[in-house]
Amino acid sequence: MSQDSKADSKTDLQVKAAEVSATGLANAAESAAGGTECICLADFEPLAKAKMAAQSWEYVCAGAGDEITVRWNEEAYRRIRLKPRILVDVSKLDTRVNLFGQEHAFPILLAPVAAQKLMHPEGELASARGASAAGATMVVSSFANTRLEDVAAVAQNPLWFQLYAQTDHGFTRELVQRAEAAGYRALCLTVDTATTGARNREARAAVKLLPIPNFAKFAGAGNDVSLHTGSQNVFKSVLDASMSWKEIEWLRSIAKIPFLLKGVLNPDDAELAVKHGVAGIIVSNHGGRNLDTLPATIDALPQVVEKIAGRMPVFVDGGIRRGTDVLKALALGASAVFIGRPYIYGLGAAGEAGVTQVIRILRREFQMAMALTGRSNVASIDRSLIWT
Ligand code: FNR
Ligand code: LAC
Repeated sequence: MSQDSKADSKTDLQVKAAEVSATGLANAAESAAGGTECICLADFEPLAKAKMAAQSWEYVCAGAGDEITVRWNEEAYRRIRLKPRILVDVSKLDTRVNLFGQEHAFPILLAPVAAQKLMHPEGELASARGASAAGATMVVSSFANTRLEDVAAVAQNPLWFQLYAQTDHGFTRELVQRAEAAGYRALCLTVDTATTGARNREARAAVKLLPIPNFAKFAGAGNDVSLHTGSQNVFKSVLDASMSWKEIEWLRSIAKIPFLLKGVLNPDDAELAVKHGVAGIIVSNHGGRNLDTLPATIDALPQVVEKIAGRMPVFVDGGIRRGTDVLKALALGASAVFIGRPYIYGLGAAGEAGVTQVIRILRREFQMAMALTGRSNVASIDRSLIWT
């Protein structure tokens, strides 16, 4: 963690919209927008849509089934009301959090998103550079279009690695060891994707994920896995549908870095995660992409947090679009949050600079929300912030 980002995390709150432009990064997004400046996360969406191929756009936005969970993820945040305190000294804000012994300047990380060359020619390299410029940790998908070592080579900030486990345990072990050797700081095993869901929009658009070099071994001729995520046999060759808690123990035993489960919703599974010794869990419904009508993650979070009762960090992703959403997630017990689609819209709209700008805007909104609710540091963000 550089001194700079440490100092910056305590910034004086009189920061003005102008600051975003002052970074120079806004300009890239601005020109990409044909003169329109992006001032909130939603502004990036139409820009990304205009620049991305129609198939790629469908891949990013689509959810499973009737996309009810996709909508709920966002709507649930809107229903939660905040209960502010006044006349608290918020002239200095400290947004730092410590996760697994590592200091993060603010509690917003980038969720793993596959196949980023669909959204921008520089793909994961642009996201990793953009995340680094904003001081954020990115979780690199094992279905990246870039080798995990190559992403690590350009990142200035620590990375985490997302793991899709394979029935071939030797291969999975190799992938874990490669991630560790490349300096990744944590592993997130995705456990909500025994298969993908009824992704109708993806199926109609016949989305293909481009080559997935981390899984090149399973590729057909020409190193093109050509995953068709909307098809019936989705990921058949690369996902392990037989995975159970036995594999979790095995994976935990081979991992030298913190090992998290991504995709926990049921508090009973959270309890099992503690029993199996994982380091943390991510409450996630995969951005509504797998099983439709799962609850919004922010609605599921409190029960999981209650069950875990401080025994390990609990994270959440899905539907976070505003700084107030980050604040609400932390108030309801999350140690930090992950964003998926928003930074991908930044990537699609303006590449690396767009990713940086999305993170900066969200962080700035989070700081505003802290100040306006009378919270000067992350430890003071608790349930009393929620209007009941
Ligand atoms: C994802 N997500 C995902 N998750 C994962 O564990 N491995 C992966 O490779 C991917 N790939 C992926 C691709 C795309 C295009 C999207 C939008 C999402 C899920 C992701 O990590 C996260 O759980 C959600 O995106 C969070 O919801 P929001 O922030 O997109 O609403
Ligand atoms: C997805 C997979 C790759 O959500 O996780 O598309």
